[in-house]
Amino acid sequence: MAHLQSNKHISPDSQTPITLHPLFNPKIAAHTPPEPPRKELTPPRDRAFFATDPEKRALFSAATKRTDLTESIGTVLEGGVQISQLSAEQLDELAALVAERGVVFFRGQDLDTPGQVRVFEHFGILDRHPAQKFVTINGSREDHREILKYTPWPSGDFHADTSFEINPPSYSLLRMEEHPDVGGDTAWVSQYGLYDALSDPYKKFLDGLHAVHTSRLQYDTIIDLWGVGPNRPPIDTHHPAVRTHPVTGLKALNVNPGFVTGFAELKKVESDKQLDFLAYHIHSADDHYVRWKWAVGDVAMWDNRCTLHRVIPGTYEGARRGIRTTVFGEKPYFDSASESRNERKLREKKAEKVKAVSGEAETPA
Ligand SMILES: [Fe+2]
Repeated sequence: MAHLQSNKHISPDSQTPITLHPLFNPKIAAHTPPEPPRKELTPPRDRAFFATDPEKRALFSAATKRTDLTESIGTVLEGGVQISQLSAEQLDELAALVAERGVVFFRGQDLDTPGQVRVFEHFGILDRHPAQKFVTINGSREDHREILKYTPWPSGDFHADTSFEINPPSYSLLRMEEHPDVGGDTAWVSQYGLYDALSDPYKKFLDGLHAVHTSRLQYDTIIDLWGVGPNRPPIDTHHPAVRTHPVTGLKALNVNPGFVTGFAELKKVESDKQLDFLAYHIHSADDHYVRWKWAVGDVAMWDNRCTLHRVIPGTYEGARRGIRTTVFGEKPYFDSASESRNERKLREKKAEKVKAVSGEAETPA
């Protein structure tokens, strides 16, 4: 942190670094991103739509042990399954499972980086420059809460990967190559569940809003803290605060503390209070949360359209390095006719009851 611009401006009164507004930070002012902003694209049809068997028998024949970690989110597939060996049909069913369960975990995978890229190309267009189709995730033991005293981006908080893009990623896969024995866990939280946990009037209020997903704070922080990048100018994108998942058809909260700075339709003070509440809501949703303790060779595949994630801050010993691949998703949309996960469950239960009753009525005496 020593090279942060704020450290060069120490207050004579408090002896504490003075946080500079980006306009007055010479490092930020001097940076010219080499690439233009991205344009909207139409990604290929989500592979989960190609999974025609709701029981996912092809996938579960390879993974003979399936454990749901919580009711709301997270499933582990075991029993000899190797992602590197899955057929196109099995990968399609995996996409469908990830869209439903939010995140799916595998242990002891034999995938290498070219294999991971090959597998992930099945799911769409990789969200990287063609010359580098993956991102190396290096562990940071810097305390994000300390960095936040002088930088504006809450990089250690819950987020959906690059949710500020016009086409934010749908699926991400992280494979761990090096990891400490303890520390560096990742947590995910279900945006289906977070939406359901709100009251009906609050749901209706959010249904009509747009969240401002921005890369500006990340942009400023990266330049000052890391000293390299970013490749593209910062953008603010207005995405629906509640989005409809294209595969499951379910509503999901589409707000995250990592990239969302407000609501387009609200006044700033109103907006700030909603963000405060939603940060509390996200951080207190233990029933919609799952935490994974990594080992080398583990893989997690998640859906950024219905989950948020964060690495748990900490000061672990040793290296932490993983390879992440992501694919572009659709431009987020809100379909007012879509339903929440609980609403669907209730509707299906009711339908079953009606069926059972009408079945009884039809049974001859
Ligand atoms: Fe992430």
